[in-house]
Amino acid sequence: MEVAYKEVLRRVSGNPSPRVTITPPNRLDTTNWELLATLASFPRPALVEELRDVLRKMTGREHVFFAPSCRAAIAQILSMLPQREVVMPAYTCPVVKVAVELAGKTIVYVDISKETLNATSREYEKEVKCGRVLLPTHLFGIPTDVERICQLAKDRNCVTIEDAAAALGSQRNGRPLGTFADFGVFSFERSKRVPSFQGAAIIVNNDHLLDPAKLSIHRVTPTKGGMPIRELLRAMVYNAATIPWLYGRVTVPRLLGRYAEMHGEPEWAPSATALNSAYYKQEFHPYQAGLALRVTKRMNGIRDHVRRLADIYKNAFHNAPLDTFLSPDCDCAGLLRFPVAFQQKKRVEALCLALRNGLYLETNYERPLPDGGEWSRFPNAVWAAENIVLLPLYRALSLKGAERLATKIVEVAKATARPSPLCGEISAA
Ligand SMILES: Cc1ncc(COP(=O)(O)O)c(C=O)c1O
Repeated sequence: MEVAYKEVLRRVSGNPSPRVTITPPNRLDTTNWELLATLASFPRPALVEELRDVLRKMTGREHVFFAPSCRAAIAQILSMLPQREVVMPAYTCPVVKVAVELAGKTIVYVDISKETLNATSREYEKEVKCGRVLLPTHLFGIPTDVERICQLAKDRNCVTIEDAAAALGSQRNGRPLGTFADFGVFSFERSKRVPSFQGAAIIVNNDHLLDPAKLSIHRVTPTKGGMPIRELLRAMVYNAATIPWLYGRVTVPRLLGRYAEMHGEPEWAPSATALNSAYYKQEFHPYQAGLALRVTKRMNGIRDHVRRLADIYKNAFHNAPLDTFLSPDCDCAGLLRFPVAFQQKKRVEALCLALRNGLYLETNYERPLPDGGEWSRFPNAVWAAENIVLLPLYRALSLKGAERLATKIVEVAKATARPSPLCGEISAA
């Protein structure tokens, strides 16, 4: 968000606060009431076992382990593998890059497809060489063609780790994502489908590569247990701050104020700092398992609702000057976000106009992962980092809310596609 909005704020004169935003980019699927009710039920270790059983049933796998976070899970698996090189997309969550580096591996990037925003078998093909680890990723819950990537890996003696951080509950041809590669990883981080502050699950699909007992206890740094009180308080504040009425009036102005004051580009945490964060140090607590269990129990309802929200976006954007990234066989019920790109104009111009008209839109992963000097080799990753906008898909977003949002987005898209004054008004929804 920081990079795009710093630029937006340079262009918007006067008070840029939308006051009334239609909807926040992301709301937790866990209410404050649930946060407190789970606390009051005295979380016990049995909850971790219960969650493990739910994930076993969901994936059909025996070995399911918990980790402090998905980045820690990836680092844990990698640091136990002898392979030296990891092939991964040039456009994905930057903490994955840090995790791979922490595991002491060399990264080989592949570009992404502009059709799905994922690196597909087409991009992986030339880098699948004997003795490498491949990291197929389902970004924003959009399935990549993981079965083909895994077949390439099998043919050329590579190991696969399926980054399904954003895809818990999503499927490809009826099979759960996270179950295709040798290992799968799911995230319980705050912005994900099953949010429990942080935490992750490792799914072992091939137990011939690593000893599951060793993998279950292996960590890349010493960890601590204990109730995540600070994260609980933070989640309660987050829930309050994203109540739509408060969001436009209080939260967005504060966020924008912060972006405006920021100097230089935001720093990515170097490996040494990352290792000291709760994402590597804090063990998954039974309380977090209790929260995750509550959400998994209503997964069918969530999937149903998300499918309808995604249908609203798809229908609204059908003939609009917007790029969308879902193939016909995409499991839309399993999406975490609905990515779009405004055609013809730079993202910053669309964000600018949107903000003027009450929409604070989410952007993410604003830089491709390779070093700047290499960007010309990854044109699609560079394009995605500079153009993608993420629309929300969460339970508390009503169908009417999604319709209003989609209508506004189309108006912004049409207005930015015309040669007209920037950052002006569009009609009220
Ligand atoms: C594709 C992907 N992989 C990995 C991660 C890291 O997950 P965690 O925050 O649980 O470490 C994320 C987080 O956003 C992600 O989107």
